[in-house]
Amino acid sequence: MLKEKEIVFATGNAHKVAEVDLIFQMPNIKILSLKDIQFTDEIVEDGLSFRENALLKVKALAKKGYTNIIGEDSGLEVEALGGEPGIYSARYSGEPVDHDRNIRKLLANLEGVENRKARFASIICYLENGIISYFEGYINGEITTDASGRKGFGYDPVFKPLNYEVTFAEMEDKLKSSISHRYKSFTELAKYLRSKNQ
Ligand code: IMP
Repeated sequence: MLKEKEIVFATGNAHKVAEVDLIFQMPNIKILSLKDIQFTDEIVEDGLSFRENALLKVKALAKKGYTNIIGEDSGLEVEALGGEPGIYSARYSGEPVDHDRNIRKLLANLEGVENRKARFASIICYLENGIISYFEGYINGEITTDASGRKGFGYDPVFKPLNYEVTFAEMEDKLKSSISHRYKSFTELAKYLRSKNQ
């Protein structure tokens, strides 16, 4: 029998952990969160791109001696705002992170704007045996004019994916986790891990 491989997912976001539990089910691979390994240091995300921030998350754990690490950075890119809030999605309206305030700022910035096109991005940096690989996932959609729904996190109440009539925050968790940006990036990572195990 194959030995179980443990991979640390460098996130303190419990919503992301729950989503990835739904998305990423591979026999012999166990994903541990920062909570599972009792890692409480702050990871400063001062990179200038999703990739750089994902790499910073990986480096913070590599320094502690972990060898199999997933760093994921994600965010919302709004076409009419030139790609903002992008890498600043979590802290769009300042610190401490406040999702409701972020949504209010986003809706205010888009008031009267006809082009509501947006996408979520999820960029994974994966380290194993000293080798770094990147995987990306995107989902297109639009920003609604009002928030609706209470599920999920972040901008979910104002993001309606293309070809759906409801926001992410109105969807069952399983549905969001079968179409989302994170679904796509983690599925790419799973393919890579499977190909390495063959
Ligand atoms: P990260 O934890 O540094 O990757 O920051 C991601 C930020 O992007 C979150 O705090 C949210 O504001 C936003 N975000 C990323 N993915 C999602 C999602 O699936 N739904 C809603 N907001 C998201």
